[in-house]
Amino acid sequence: MSAVELRSLPEHVDSARPPKPSLFRTLRFRLMLSVALVHAVLMGTFVWSEVGKQSQAIRADLYSRAHSLITLMAVASTNALLAEDLGSLAEVTQRVKRQPDVMEGAIIDVRGDVLASTDARQVGHRLRLPDAALARQGHGRLRLEEQIRVAGQRVGTVLLEMSTRHLQSELAATRDEGLLFILLALVVGSVAAWVLSLFITRNLHILMEAARRIGSGDLGVRVALPARDEVGLLGGAFNAMAESLQRISAQVQNEHEKRTDAERLACVGELSASIAHEIRNPLSAVINSVKLLDRSNLPAGDRAQAIAILNTESLRLQRILNDFLDFARIRESRLQEGDICGLVEEVAGLIRQHPQAAAVKVEVECDAHHSRARHDPDQLRQVVWNLMLNAIQAIPDRGELRVRVERAAGTVRVSITDNGSGIPDHLLDKIMRPFVTGRKQGTGLGLSIAQRILMQHGTVLSIVSHVNVGTEVSFDLEAT
Ligand SMILES: Nc1ncnc2c1ncn2[C@@H]1O[C@H](COP(=O)(O)OP(=O)(O)O)[C@@H](O)[C@H]1O
Ligand SMILES: [Mg+2]
Repeated sequence: MSAVELRSLPEHVDSARPPKPSLFRTLRFRLMLSVALVHAVLMGTFVWSEVGKQSQAIRADLYSRAHSLITLMAVASTNALLAEDLGSLAEVTQRVKRQPDVMEGAIIDVRGDVLASTDARQVGHRLRLPDAALARQGHGRLRLEEQIRVAGQRVGTVLLEMSTRHLQSELAATRDEGLLFILLALVVGSVAAWVLSLFITRNLHILMEAARRIGSGDLGVRVALPARDEVGLLGGAFNAMAESLQRISAQVQNEHEKRTDAERLACVGELSASIAHEIRNPLSAVINSVKLLDRSNLPAGDRAQAIAILNTESLRLQRILNDFLDFARIRESRLQEGDICGLVEEVAGLIRQHPQAAAVKVEVECDAHHSRARHDPDQLRQVVWNLMLNAIQAIPDRGELRVRVERAAGTVRVSITDNGSGIPDHLLDKIMRPFVTGRKQGTGLGLSIAQRILMQHGTVLSIVSHVNVGTEVSFDLEAT
């Protein structure tokens, strides 16, 4: 029979399980320990007081038997003592001997001579006796002495010794029984507490498992606990919470999708506006030049100038379109392990041959043994090219471009430093956006392309720049 179950729990959900607490810290153990202890203490107190009462009753029974017996002895031997009838006195002691627990019984005259005794060897011996009736206990025996008086005169003494061994064993048995009862109470209490705790914690475990699954993202989880006790009510509250969590999550998801759609549209709009803006000027120049060339009476000098404008502006249009295609067509990175030094040296070699690098000293600092990292070689070549090109374009006259590849904790850092014009503050914040450029001939796509490629490598560009001092652009790759 199972009144408790988990519904709609997909088996594939795999989230970190909470560490199991040690047995002594579990609610189950603590509950069991406290119930068992309370049970044992209460039962123990009760049983112990019962054992005490029973022991007292056993002891009182022996004392009362002993007193009755010694009184009987005294009464039965008074006449025989007065008549000095040793035979009757011996008969009295023999009858006493047959009673249970009697160890010794003796009748003594006023001088202390033993007239009759259960132990025949004692007869005729003289004993020293106290003046009054006494009862003493010790060494497994209870000793009673009673004086026999006639008309106020002491005529003799009776002496009785009873064994307390039987009493002791009865007391021990009662005590053992009591201890057994306490032990039994402890065991029964523990078992009862265990069953109780099992019942309570089983439901708590179901709740815990459901909470864990919610934590791992499965918001469809619900628990079905019978709503009869507090844990059942907790289950109901849990379900209500999961319900509203699921509803809120769906709303958030919905909002998020709407926002991303809006952002995507805004981005497309922005990009289209930027492209239109970028190509409008060169296109107007091309159109005006074509109109000029169309005139039949155009002087040869103007014709040459119009052709030159056509040439530069169509090249500019081509560059804008090529850069934009590079930006739009960035494919998924195919990361592989490889040497960054070799790649940087290769790009540096190409940059040195670039017309704008004629007066620039290009240097590479690299430790080839510590420069292996995960990267897409073709894409990384483009990143390094774009960054080096920006650097040499920022050096107006003579200058220096330094590329450093160094190994840090778990990464290979590539930094490109120049002592060129630097980037003004107003440009620095938006420099990564497409079509943001600070140069007349620029398209503003070089850094955006580099940034997008690096993001696919799990890293980003960082730029430190000071106007008229220089710029350092760097990024980290995962070392291998
Ligand atoms: N190393 C640098 N030194 C100075 N300015 C730079 C440097 N790198 C980039 N910039 C600035 O950032 C702008 C954007 O660069 P980029 O995205 O490559 O586009 P583009 O080079 O086509 O202008 C550049 O126009 C330039 O103003
Ligand atoms: Mg550039």
